[in-house]
Amino acid sequence: MFLLTTLCALFALLAVVPVYATTGVIVPLYQFPVTSANWAPLETALSTFPSLQFYVIINPNSGPGDADSQPDPAYQTNIQTLRTHSNALLVGYVLTGFGTRASADVLQDIQTYAGWDASYGVDGIFFDQTMAGFDAEYTSYSDAVRSTAWPSRATGYVIMNPGEDIGNSDYYSLADQIVTFEQTYAEFQQESPIPLVHPAQQSVIIHTFTGPGVSNQTLSSVVTSLKSSGFASTYITNLNISQTDVYANFGSDFAQFVADVAA
Ligand SMILES: *[C@@H]1O[C@H](CO)[C@@H](O)[C@H](O)[C@H]1NC(C)=O
Ligand SMILES: *[C@@H]1O[C@H](CO)[C@@H](O)[C@H](O)[C@H]1NC(C)=O
Repeated sequence: MFLLTTLCALFALLAVVPVYATTGVIVPLYQFPVTSANWAPLETALSTFPSLQFYVIINPNSGPGDADSQPDPAYQTNIQTLRTHSNALLVGYVLTGFGTRASADVLQDIQTYAGWDASYGVDGIFFDQTMAGFDAEYTSYSDAVRSTAWPSRATGYVIMNPGEDIGNSDYYSLADQIVTFEQTYAEFQQESPIPLVHPAQQSVIIHTFTGPGVSNQTLSSVVTSLKSSGFASTYITNLNISQTDVYANFGSDFAQFVADVAA
């Protein structure tokens, strides 16, 4: 009887907890939603692949904008729409300047995001320009996120972005995910394979995924290989860093990229 009850409880749990493919999509959404059309490719991706987990970095102004204030109404409306998708986990962008930014300013940004109304709130923080060598300041940043109340999570989600391999760093105990590669596709080819330290916590971001010999097939095979390595998340865009701000728009390969991760 006890076993049966336990099994029933387990199945009930399985029925409500969505099961996500291992590798999710991380989206540096560094674009102002002038109209809902700006974020529409992401909206479409979220609804097309409801069982694919997305980690969306919300970034109004290299951070939350004015301290202790609510975001621009355009952000409020468009984040509300993103929040209707249970496969979207939202994190607020916070600059850390490779450890040089004043701690008080970093902590203030976290509190500003935490003060956003729950209807357009975020679920944690993305610390950009994380110092690659361990810096104890980041312990207090992670603690601040994890001890704060976020709209849809008991414990705030933490992503750190040193953008390079950090070995078996203590950061892995402070963050849910760490971006261990953020560079061009040419650089990715040079550095491949990216060291797998804690793949289930590692993220890979590749931009400038273009040039001679780069086809849809190339994209699919890179995504397949990242998935088989078990990375937590990835983002790939064909926008060229020498020509544009690669996260201010979606590349023309965005839909195919997402479909490849979902496949
Ligand atoms: C990126 O753009 C620069 C400047 O237009 C160009 O020289 C370079 O070849 C492009 N890179 C790739 C990989 O296409
Ligand atoms: C590559 O993929 C894009 C987007 O899915 C599609 O529009 C395009 O036709 C494809 N190109 C080739 C050569 O298959």
